[in-house]
Amino acid sequence: MAVDLLLGLQWGDEGKGKIVDVLTKEYDIIARFQGGPNAGHTLIFDGNKHVLHTIPSGIFHDKAINVVGNGVVIDPVIFKKELENLDKHKIPYTNKLLISRKAHLILPTHRLLDAASEASKGKAKIGSTLKGIGPTYMDKTGRNGMRVGDLELDNWKEKYDALTEKHIKMLDFFNVDVQYNLKELEEEFCAGIDKLKTLQFIDSEEFLNQAINSKKKILAEGAQGSLLDIDFGTYPFVTSSNTTAAGACTGLGIAPNKIGDVFGIFKAYTTRVGSGPFPTELFDKNGATMAKVGHEFGATTGRARRCGWLDLIALKYAIQVNGVTQLMMMKSDVLSGFDTIKVCTVYNYNGEEIAHLPYNIEPENVTPVYSEFKGWKEDLTSMNSSNQLPENLEIYISFIEKETGVPVKIVSVGPDRKQTILR
Ligand code: IMP
Repeated sequence: MAVDLLLGLQWGDEGKGKIVDVLTKEYDIIARFQGGPNAGHTLIFDGNKHVLHTIPSGIFHDKAINVVGNGVVIDPVIFKKELENLDKHKIPYTNKLLISRKAHLILPTHRLLDAASEASKGKAKIGSTLKGIGPTYMDKTGRNGMRVGDLELDNWKEKYDALTEKHIKMLDFFNVDVQYNLKELEEEFCAGIDKLKTLQFIDSEEFLNQAINSKKKILAEGAQGSLLDIDFGTYPFVTSSNTTAAGACTGLGIAPNKIGDVFGIFKAYTTRVGSGPFPTELFDKNGATMAKVGHEFGATTGRARRCGWLDLIALKYAIQVNGVTQLMMMKSDVLSGFDTIKVCTVYNYNGEEIAHLPYNIEPENVTPVYSEFKGWKEDLTSMNSSNQLPENLEIYISFIEKETGVPVKIVSVGPDRKQTILR
């Protein structure tokens, strides 16, 4: 049985959490493969809103096993808060949340280093969520990191102390003012570790491959989006992991020939949070309307998201890099009411028209060229069948399907589980 992947195709915040939650009933196992608490997956059902940062979005279903894979970085402090929120809502998790021994730990000093690194960059800052993601992955690739499996050793505190001491010295290097109380941070961290240790640590690659052999259905859940990928995103304004399909192989230990469907999630328009180029960004009332109607504020940091029209050049790039087999279009309801809807189909790149994503997409190099579509007025939020969708929306979707060569199988018309239309 194959492993299906679910990935964001833009700059994150596409609505992956909702779709994983909707799809979970089809799967035995949901596995997160990269990123960490920089992600914020919002799920709304039964009148309650839940935000997950590290825990896979399948946790709200009775049967699914949820695996935090080796490619994920875990902050025990944030993880503890997530678990306490589940406790509060009486959501059971002890037997259905498994943690890879090879996942790396975010130490309090990783967060401090993130803050110092950003502060030292001034205007060139990445706009990081400041959750310690970059420094933790740097320690991973630098072969200095602490892993969940280390917590099973008697000397884990010695490892922790040595790494923390090194980080404190590194903080001096940045020569910026970062205030902290190490004792308080450590207390919080150790309380987080105690809570983490109540869960089962596993050799997740073995567990998942055994599950594949036993014909279990697995959904690999991505975080962030393809344009934030460390290799293929808008570097250096990216996150520090591979958010694309290949990241699922390395972040879970699954071979490429075990991958089945690749579900690509995109918004009917585009958003970005943090710094970095965004060719179709709007600075006019259309952008403000998208932000307002779409409640475009980050689930993790609360920052306002930048908004713009759909960028088909970037979308096709993401589809290609990931091998997307099915598309899912989110937040279609937000576009109701626009007289004209634009889609970027060509880039004017230094005077030349191109149809691929070039190395450099800063505004001085790239100007988007748009195709225009007639908008629709209907409120989509209470629709539940594809034959209710307005004709102009169908024309918009068909255009995207024709341009990308990939079918749009789900149209989301609101944040609730129920507001999901299958095509
Ligand atoms: P970091 O991963 O926290 O270091 O942030 C690096 C960049 O990725 C910043 O521009 C963040 O705003 C962005 N980013 C990280 N995680 C997410 C996410 O889950 N959704 C959207 N943007 C994100």
